[in-house]
Amino acid sequence: MELDPVQRAAQEQFARQSHRYGQGHILENVEDVRAAIGPLRLGPGTRVLDVGTGAGHTGLFLASLGHDVTLADIALPMLERAKEAAGLHGLQVQTRQHPAEQFPYPDAGFDLVTCRVAAHHFTSPERFLRETARVLSAGGRLLLIDGTVPDDQQEAEAWLHALEKHRDPSHHRFLTPSGWSQLCEASGMRVLHTTLTPIKQPDLNWYFDTAATSPDNRKKVLELIAHAPQSARDLFRLGEEDGKIVWWWQRLTLVARRLAGC
Ligand SMILES: C[S@@+](CC[C@H](N)C(=O)[O-])C[C@H]1O[C@@H](n2cnc3c(N)ncnc32)[C@H](O)[C@@H]1O
Repeated sequence: MELDPVQRAAQEQFARQSHRYGQGHILENVEDVRAAIGPLRLGPGTRVLDVGTGAGHTGLFLASLGHDVTLADIALPMLERAKEAAGLHGLQVQTRQHPAEQFPYPDAGFDLVTCRVAAHHFTSPERFLRETARVLSAGGRLLLIDGTVPDDQQEAEAWLHALEKHRDPSHHRFLTPSGWSQLCEASGMRVLHTTLTPIKQPDLNWYFDTAATSPDNRKKVLELIAHAPQSARDLFRLGEEDGKIVWWWQRLTLVARRLAGC
């Protein structure tokens, strides 16, 4: 499958950095997923597709609950690590390598599509959502968790976008909650709810190391932080603790349902 430059950048970045995303990564804590799926009342053996699975924290958690899980990612080394982790925990999962914008599955084959902290890398959130709606059975759900910026914060959004691009050039764009909601509705899904949760981020240096940010780009990020507009300072609660730069990310949790007959 031919990849576009954004997809290729993500594939290369995550293939190179896959060793950073397993044990000890902050995404290992899946309490956000646990909280989000509680109200969904998933039946036993729910067919789950976890897109942008990374080291598999979300998909493996769902597999541990007895669901039938397919882990999908654009970067093969990530899938290999996720498979290894599944084996260590005695979990059965399928793995598939493909971009989020083009799925190799027939229509209506899944009851739940999950995508956590990956969609800001996608070259086309529209195509990802159209594919999601296509492979969901009628009434099936999408659980999307990703960084976001509230709708009325354009200045802070532009600042964060510049910062993330320097930190990890495979970053594409954070969408606002209403941006995601409109795309879901246009794809044949009804948004059931959206929640914004501020999450405290660890030391900036941990982020640099996780993304292997180049020395030049580290400098650019530090300059952006030093000159951050007040809107970004307030929204992300930029600060210093014990000589470390810390901030709070806004995390969006969105649940949507596939409408029948679309
Ligand atoms: C931060 S990791 C995901 C974390 C994971 N979902 C979890 O809950 O722990 C982001 C993943 O998205 C994948 N990714 C980025 N762009 C992609 C695309 N266009 N299609 C599929 N996967 C993509 C990367 O390869 C990477 O493994």
